[in-house]
Amino acid sequence: MKKIVVFTGAGMSADSGLATFRDADGLWANYRIEDVCTPEALKNNRAQVIEFYNLRRREALSKSPNEGHLAIAQMEEWAEVIVITQNVDNLHERAGSKNILHLHGELMKLRSERDSKLIYDIEDGWEQGLDERAEDGSLLRPHIVFFGESVPMFDPACRIVQDADVLVVVGTSLAVYPAAMLVRYAKSGVPIYVVDPGNPDTSMIRNPLTHIKARAAEGMPELAKRLKDIYGNE
Ligand code: APR
Repeated sequence: MKKIVVFTGAGMSADSGLATFRDADGLWANYRIEDVCTPEALKNNRAQVIEFYNLRRREALSKSPNEGHLAIAQMEEWAEVIVITQNVDNLHERAGSKNILHLHGELMKLRSERDSKLIYDIEDGWEQGLDERAEDGSLLRPHIVFFGESVPMFDPACRIVQDADVLVVVGTSLAVYPAAMLVRYAKSGVPIYVVDPGNPDTSMIRNPLTHIKARAAEGMPELAKRLKDIYGNE
């Protein structure tokens, strides 16, 4: 079976109704990163940060996977598929994908502010209370990689990309590092397909590149069909 690695960003979930970050109507047009997505914001502005992620969580729970998420999950019938997502929603999980690495954390998890290994699933609802604590007594925080923090899943993600036979990149501006560097880890000659209606920064891609200029919900099912024709019997 071919190993297909799918690297996704906010555009993947845009067709489910979740805003991206850097498009004209994106989240960073309405919020300042330094107010809601940095360790300093959490320290000095805790209520605003928790509220921001409560809203994101409530919104994500009200949406469903789109045809793009489903097409990625269905490729598992004939290929080994690993999803590396920058998204913090759980739409890939809900679409049925089995192998998912979250590079920037997960909305449906909280963790101890002191011990990053103390991670809890949010079992019910969308709301994190301001004073909720972990079992070590410290306050809980969203299990999200803030700007300025290290990306612990980056190295495992690099190893997955290095092993790919095909790399598919969906709905990411490739503007945020180190995530955007992942495309440089594909072995030489490995084909890279980008599905994005806009113009992500593909300047660092050295591999054979095909840009499918379409929304995820249209372009991804189309690409999955194409890949199945090429690799489905291997
Ligand atoms: N289908 C596919 N792609 C789309 C769609 C769509 N319907 N709509 C928009 N896009 C594309 C845009 O053209 C753009 O290239 O999705 C991309 C969104 O880019 P960003 O908003 O920068 O999102 P992303 O690349 O995921 O951001 C990376 O930045 O703020 C951080 O941590 C956050 O994980 C996020 C990271």
